[in-house]
Amino acid sequence: MNAKAHDPSILNEADRWRSRDLAVLWHPCTQMREHLSHGDALPLLPVARGEGAWLVGHDDRRTLDAVSSWWTNLFGHAEPRIAEAIARQARTLEQVILAGCSHAPAVELAERLLAVAPREYAGNGGGRDPLAKVFYADNGSAGIEVALKMAFHWFHNRGDEPRRTRFVSLTNSYHGETIGALSVGDIPLYRRVYAPLLLEPLFAPSPDAFLARDGQSAAACAEEAADALAHLLDEHPGEVCALILEPRVQCAGGMRMHDPVYLKRVRELCDVHGVFLIADEIAVGFGRTGTMFACEQAGIQPDLLCLSKGLTGGFLPLCAVLATQAIYDGFLDDSRERAFLHSHSYSGNPLACAAAIASLDIFESDDVLARNRVTAGKMAQLAAPFADHPLVADVRQAGMILAIELHPEPGASEDGNAVEIANRRGPRMYRAALDRGVLLRPLGDVLYWMPPYCIDDEQLALLADTTRAAIDAAA
Ligand SMILES: Cc1ncc(COP(=O)(O)O)c(C=O)c1O
Repeated sequence: MNAKAHDPSILNEADRWRSRDLAVLWHPCTQMREHLSHGDALPLLPVARGEGAWLVGHDDRRTLDAVSSWWTNLFGHAEPRIAEAIARQARTLEQVILAGCSHAPAVELAERLLAVAPREYAGNGGGRDPLAKVFYADNGSAGIEVALKMAFHWFHNRGDEPRRTRFVSLTNSYHGETIGALSVGDIPLYRRVYAPLLLEPLFAPSPDAFLARDGQSAAACAEEAADALAHLLDEHPGEVCALILEPRVQCAGGMRMHDPVYLKRVRELCDVHGVFLIADEIAVGFGRTGTMFACEQAGIQPDLLCLSKGLTGGFLPLCAVLATQAIYDGFLDDSRERAFLHSHSYSGNPLACAAAIASLDIFESDDVLARNRVTAGKMAQLAAPFADHPLVADVRQAGMILAIELHPEPGASEDGNAVEIANRRGPRMYRAALDRGVLLRPLGDVLYWMPPYCIDDEQLALLADTTRAAIDAAA
């Protein structure tokens, strides 16, 4: 902070909030020093209210939320139908213990989620037993813990394969920040420090199409990664209880995308090796990649499906873990220890469930997926010219996620420690976009668009113009 920012009498309203904030808050995923010592280079953005795709400041300055507030928001900020559903629910039942009690929003939401969950049909009309039960947690990482523990505990209850204690995860994956979720993630910046505390999964190579060799198709790259996974599973017979992956897009890993054929192969391999498949659709679920769920693009159904972020339209924290009947049945017993005793105080909170039901209603009433197809087409058109920019290595898209990857900056270290914050490329791009009224948060060398679905043509044009300016600022 500079000296001016410390004297509240000469600050404008936004600066006053910045000053009060920095006096008391410790922000997530943030090196606080960047705000404290370099506040001018990387200013906090005080937000007074949200309106559709806009974040509105205390001075009424508008900033386009091109990242849907950490990929949570679906239909715009303060969407009136969801806001009303929460208000109605708050006047009726705000919270109740979900052990031993039941409430309509939790039941109705579970019914609705199971009805839209990915299904796998065999050619002869038969198919895999559908996802049949919903377990609630209250954020994404907590939901990952649930899925990992459920998979392990299921084998433990069965008792005949005591060595099935390991997880398979993919390189460059991200599943959250709690110890278990971090264990199955592979982003060094988040994982390295805590490595002594973490479980050690078996990492299989990511099917990331960006890593395809010259002339290799995305599908061939995916097949090669699946072959490597097959080899890994062969090498560890009877040791693995579950494989976890982010279908179609490794979001925190830089919006890296893969061909759906990989998911088909993984499903087959999990079946052959008796391993549960956990699909983490926390970031990609609810229409982000074009279909309601990314697994649909491969026609597969996981054994456990984790949903959060957009689940409530981006209003409230909630996670739903969907499980097959067979997994649920594995815990039925007279012994309490064989039950799944995992709990969170706010599991299945009625306000969050009401928001999620209202969000599912909007999918139906507004034909959201069809509208998104049109918007995604416009995004593709606007981004196509970036492919010719000398700094750009790749432009890729999966539905409402579009990423522009720059060639690596010569000499940059992974966390940029060597370079003064204000001179780093990421903060420069971030600041250039913010100055033009767009919130873009580059992931390393990757600029991406993951806007609320309500983004309109004018806002898309602003996003494209601003992205060009941000890329130029990287030069
Ligand atoms: C794929 C994926 N899984 C899990 C999480 C963790 O969710 P939360 O931040 O709610 O703990 C995230 C968050 O970004 C995510 O992208």
